[in-house]
Formats: sequence, structure tokens, C-alpha cells
Amino acid sequence: MKQLNQNQDQWKTRLGFMLAAMGSAVGLGNIWRFPYVTGELGGATFLIVYLAFVFLIGIPLLLNEFSIGKAGQKDAVGSFQNLAPNTKWHWTGFMGVIGGILILSFYSVVAGWSLFYLYKYLTGAYWSEPDGGYGMVFDEWISNPILPLLWQALFLGVTLFIVIRGVKGGIEKANAFLMPVLAVLMIFMAGYVLTLDGALEGVTFLFQPDWSQLSNPKLYLTALGQAFFSLSIGVSGMLTYASYLKAKDRLPGAAIGVGVMDTVFAVIAGIMIFPAVFSFGLEVNEGPPLVFITLPSIFASMPLGNVVGIIFFVLLTMAALSSAISLLELPVAFFKRTIGMSRKAATYLCTSIIFVLGIASSLGFGIWSGVTIGGQNILGMIDYLTANFVLPFGALLMALFVGWYLNREQAQKNSEIENPLMFNIWYIIIKIIVPVVMIIIVIANIFGYTA
Ligand code: PHE
Repeated sequence: MKQLNQNQDQWKTRLGFMLAAMGSAVGLGNIWRFPYVTGELGGATFLIVYLAFVFLIGIPLLLNEFSIGKAGQKDAVGSFQNLAPNTKWHWTGFMGVIGGILILSFYSVVAGWSLFYLYKYLTGAYWSEPDGGYGMVFDEWISNPILPLLWQALFLGVTLFIVIRGVKGGIEKANAFLMPVLAVLMIFMAGYVLTLDGALEGVTFLFQPDWSQLSNPKLYLTALGQAFFSLSIGVSGMLTYASYLKAKDRLPGAAIGVGVMDTVFAVIAGIMIFPAVFSFGLEVNEGPPLVFITLPSIFASMPLGNVVGIIFFVLLTMAALSSAISLLELPVAFFKRTIGMSRKAATYLCTSIIFVLGIASSLGFGIWSGVTIGGQNILGMIDYLTANFVLPFGALLMALFVGWYLNREQAQKNSEIENPLMFNIWYIIIKIIVPVVMIIIVIANIFGYTA
């Protein structure tokens, strides 16, 4: 094994890495995106396809991405250059850096809304239905040209504050606090919601399939995109995190642990949200505003709703923060090495770029709402493109890299799977199954779905 570069940032413990990787995975994707795509695409049917993708494709690809970072020992681009000098493979990492910047640009807009809602709950302003209703105040808020930008900047400022402190001192410490607290809050919330009248209907929606949805090609692309988005795979953020591991830290268990926890968090978010929605007789296919309009109106009429509202927006903001940290660290690590900047300068630079790009997503709800493609505004467009194309394409390239560019021995060594049978299964998934499944899904969507 190559001598590891001791100057590079490193995690203090393997658990610290696992919590950070879980922090990256569990985010708005689980609590904001998962419930509304599930609501739009038939509940349990979507859930089943999603789970199949997570376990058959997502977790193996997560291990694949980890293996490139740990063996490459550098940032998104540098790791590929280390493993495949004088080739074009590092473009995969480069695309990831751009993808990460784009994701965080819209992600921080939604996270800013969440922070603002937390503030409104802390001050009591949203404890009961405001004049005009939650729908109207939300529409007014997101279409305001200035205020959401301030909250987005505040959120990015907190992210910057952590990333600037480095891997051990900032990222590892922050996640070691955020993740356990998040877990406790979510379990508490799900438990409470299940005690409400009518909650069972929501649970049924989440667990009872509607098989007719299976012929909808959009279901598969969305489930695949959601699996990649939720597991943070394809943009090399997980690759960057794995590059900070020490040689002795094993990968396969970490990939399974992160994948399983991410799924558990998504299902808990579903259990927290759908029963509440059904018990108050509201619609589940509300789209992105689900957590900002539907949930507050539920909280308003629920016993202890004000406390629940505060807890909910605390946890939503915390989950977003731990993911945003990984999305910022991805370009920071790249800029730090390539331009030779200090961590501090790189963090300021990347945060500024992300904020400026994010302005477009934010204004897309107001003065730029005329800018749409296929009915999607700017945020919707970037979200759709990154989740359904950039991430799957990045993950596909990484699978081709390990499956076809590296040889079998290298792949086995880097994956750290010791059991030969398990390795064979994983290798076939990476080499054959992933490329075939992804090509079929993309083609089916190009021909079968034009909305
Ligand atoms: N996985 C995060 C979420 O579910 C989003 C994310 C995507 C983070 C890609 C990092 C990289 O919210």
C-alpha cells in the first residue's frame, strides 16, 4: 500500500467519518424531497422501487465512490489523477465539483427557508394560521426578492464557519453533535405523530403499493435520482470524505451503515409526515411546498403543535446543514489543492460562488418566475438536472472507471471486500448491472416521458 500523505486532512476516528458521511446523506433529500416525490408517485410503490435501487445499486455505488477516494487520497479531481494519471477520468471529479456547487446553490435556498421558518416558530409568529393562511405567507415569502437571500446567506455563513475549521476541528465535530441530536428528534416526532387520530391512513399510504404506477417510466428515473441524491453519490462529495480516512479504516461496513441509516431516516421522515397529512385530511402530492405549507397548517391544529413546529424546523435545518457541509467541502478541497489556496481562502471563495449562483434559484420564485423549462422554475430545473442526470451520470462514470478501467485486482483491493463471493456480486453490479440499468432507465425516459 502506498504511503499515505500525512499532510492531508484526516478524520480522527472511523466513527467520525461515518457520522459525517451519514450527515452528508441525511438531509433535505430525506425530509423535504423524499416525502413529496413519494407523495407524487404513488406512495408505497415508489418506496419499494426506491428501496430496491438503494440496496441493489445505491449502496454498492457508495462503496465504489468511497473506494476511489480512499485509494486516491485526494480531492474529487486529484483522486482520479492519482489512480489514472494521464487520462481523462479526472473529468468525472471535475463534473462532480461543478455538480456539488450547483446542488448547494439551490439547496441553500431551501435551507434558508427552513432557517426562516425556525425563526418564525421560535418567535411564535406561525403557531397559529397567519392572516391569509400558510399558503399565502409562504408564496409571499419565497417571492420576496431580498429576504430569502439574507436567510440563505446566513445558512451559508454557518456552513462556512464549520468548513473553515477543517476536517477534524470543524466537520467531524459538527457532525458528532448534529447526527445524534437529529436522530433523537426525528424518532420522537415520528412517535408523536403516530399517536394522532387517522395516522394509520398515512402509514397505509406509505406501505401499501399501487401497482399500476409500475408502468410509469418517470417512477424509475425519479426513484433512481432520489436514491443517488439521498445517498450523496455521483458528485464526489463522499469520495472527498473517504479520502480523509486512514489506511486501517474499513470501507464495506461504512458503506452499508451509511446506506441503511439514510434509508431509515427517509422512512422515519415519511412516518413523521404522511400520517400527519392524512390525519388532517390534506393532500399528499403537494410537491416542494409540502413541508412549508401543509405541515405548518397541521402543526397549528395539533396538540402541542408549537413545540412540534419548533422541533421540526430545528431538525430540518440541522439535517440540511450536515449535508451542506459536505457539499461545500467538495469544491473547497479541490480549490485548496489545485490553486494552492489556504482552506480559509478556498472556503470563502466557494461559498461566494455558491451564494451568487443561488440568487438565481431564489429569484426564480419571484421576479424571475417567468424563466421556466417544462413548467419548472430555476430551482426546480437545477434540482431535476442534478438529481436525475448529473448524479447518475457521475455515478455511472465511477462504476465504469472501477469496473472497466481498473483491473479486477485493483478493484478488489480498493473495495476492501474480503469475502470472494461478496466481492464477485459487488463487482458484477458495478461492472455490468449498474451500466445496463442506468442506460435502460435513461432511454425509457427519453422516449416514454416528456413532461
Ligand atoms: N444527500 C443529501 C440530502 O439528502 C444531498 C446531497 C447530495 C449532499 C449530493 C451531498 C451530495 O439532502
